[in-house]
Amino acid sequence: MKHKLPRQICQQKINKIIFREIKQQKVEVFRASKKLLAQVRSISESIEKEGLPPYLVKKKLEKGLGYGIFLHPSAKPIAKGQVIAPYAGKVSLDSQNFSDNDSDYIFSIVSNIILTKEEQQLFDPKRRYHPRRLYSLDLDAEKVGNFTRFINHSQKPNIEAHFVQIGRKPEFLPEIVYVASKTIRPGEQLQVCYEGEDKSYWGALNIKPTPITPQTYKIDKSLRLLNN
Ligand SMILES: C[S@@+](CC[C@H](N)C(=O)[O-])C[C@H]1O[C@@H](n2cnc3c(N)ncnc32)[C@H](O)[C@@H]1O
Repeated sequence: MKHKLPRQICQQKINKIIFREIKQQKVEVFRASKKLLAQVRSISESIEKEGLPPYLVKKKLEKGLGYGIFLHPSAKPIAKGQVIAPYAGKVSLDSQNFSDNDSDYIFSIVSNIILTKEEQQLFDPKRRYHPRRLYSLDLDAEKVGNFTRFINHSQKPNIEAHFVQIGRKPEFLPEIVYVASKTIRPGEQLQVCYEGEDKSYWGALNIKPTPITPQTYKIDKSLRLLNN
């Protein structure tokens, strides 16, 4: 598997804006516990080495859903609160209404950002300055990422995304970490809800997602796909 990026990539010059917006918009950031840090370290090593950890399976689904990630039928259940992995990709600042980026793998971290004239010139040099243009901080796993990019959407997910400061130093940027929100049983599909209150994912694509749950598709001991 070629997706072996354990953690997000972010240019230094974006950091200042991220910290400013977190403060101004009062974005909730979790402090990582020692347990979470140890789990992130362990899964990051596994991603760098193998891409997909051995207890997970990547499987093609039906009806245009593409691939999905399942817990191996012979693996131990994943307990609620266990780290799945950081959602890794490249962090960028995109214009909210006129973005040229139509990637399916974007996680919007913070939106409704107003940039100063200098910042617009730096991050959006092709467009004329507009004081009310809104930007969003996006984490895109289209070109670089890890297996979390194959985790599908559900309204009844078994994973939630936490915005976590990984490490104790204040200059460490928060990252999106997928954590099990309930027990995930062997053979079940890992799923997360793509949308917050802003309905920015499916609303922007103007399509209705297929109403799948972690039990809709399962895999059996021979890694065959079952549709319940
Ligand atoms: C982050 S990717 C997930 C992995 C994707 N299945 C793949 O093979 O690359 C997001 C894309 O997967 C598909 N997808 C994920 N969950 C879906 C759902 N519940 N209904 C329909 N399409 C879904 C959509 O095409 C969506 O834009």
